Amino acid sequence: MSEAELKTLETAFEQKIQDDVRIEPKDWMPEKYRKTHIRQISQHAHSEIVGMLPEGNWITRAPSLRRKVALLAKVQDEAGHGLYLYSACETLGISRDELLEQLHKGTAKYSSIFNYPTLTWADIGAIGWLVDGAAIINQVPLMNTSYGPYARAMVRVCKEESFHQRQGFEIMMKLAKGTSEQKEMAQDALNRWWWPSIMMFGPTDAESIHTAQSMKWKLKRKTNDELRQQFIDQTVPQADLIGLSVPDADLKWNEERQSYDFGPIDWDEFWQVVKGHGPCNKQRINTRVAAYENGKWVRDGAMAHAAKKEVRKAV
Ligand code: 3HC
Repeated sequence: MSEAELKTLETAFEQKIQDDVRIEPKDWMPEKYRKTHIRQISQHAHSEIVGMLPEGNWITRAPSLRRKVALLAKVQDEAGHGLYLYSACETLGISRDELLEQLHKGTAKYSSIFNYPTLTWADIGAIGWLVDGAAIINQVPLMNTSYGPYARAMVRVCKEESFHQRQGFEIMMKLAKGTSEQKEMAQDALNRWWWPSIMMFGPTDAESIHTAQSMKWKLKRKTNDELRQQFIDQTVPQADLIGLSVPDADLKWNEERQSYDFGPIDWDEFWQVVKGHGPCNKQRINTRVAAYENGKWVRDGAMAHAAKKEVRKAV
């Protein structure tokens, strides 16, 4: 392709982004646009799949049939979210096997939040309330992201996330209004999950290596810091409502900003977890690798069935 042809394509692409025209799989796109979408969408999908593990741990120990059914439905939803997102990612020319190999080999990330243990039933409430709450804040703008398949995958994901957040908040509300031991369990869960939840939004905008370009390409519609602030401003009043206290001595309503000021985030902890040294990183990956290996017979069976169907069609 000549320089002039490339320039024409780049100009037309930028114009589509500017005019909010969705970029579709068959459209021409800069290689860097394609690569950063594979990076973000695949890591989003990995997060959904790995995110099933901390909660899956409590399905057999839910305190009632109602709680068990809600948690089962939530974990199944997360599996579906992962599959939508892997499918959206595959439209960019990468295979499911390559994506899974990147997760299993540790060359692709997933959200830091899923490397923390779920120690009590209240953690399941805290995850629904805080982690899915943060995910909703982060994912709603993605329904308007410039890449068509990603934006469309987000529509259904966001609808299901709101149920996830509500069932988690209901668990925390019940515990907070329960016995003193139950309230203590809920407060302990909030203490352990609060800071990792606000780290989910990624490094500060000043530290973020991708945000500026992602905003230009309308992959991101809001920055990491904007979304983090939105989450804090929305969640602190919810904690107040159920009589739990957010574990941040510097948290204070700023009348002028109409927002909460909050204390310093432990970025050492964040990067330690992102780099694989969190409490559960090894356990999570080992579990995923084992599941993939143990599931080989299912994949082989499905492929054999599909091949047989192809043969039948051909005759
Ligand atoms: N955990 C792990 N890695 C993180 C991270 C986190 N919380 N935040 C940032 N990082 C990584 C980035 O991936 C990037 O590394 P890379 O270059 O190897 O990809 C590096 O840190 C620098 O961060 P940036 O802010 O520059 O990177 P991004 O612009 O990609 O922003 C993000 C990070 C905000 C997570 C963005 O990728 C995003 O919005 N992703 C889509 C949503 C998503 O993945 N959410 C994760 C949770 S999904 C979930 O919670 C499911 C729900 O059902 C529970």
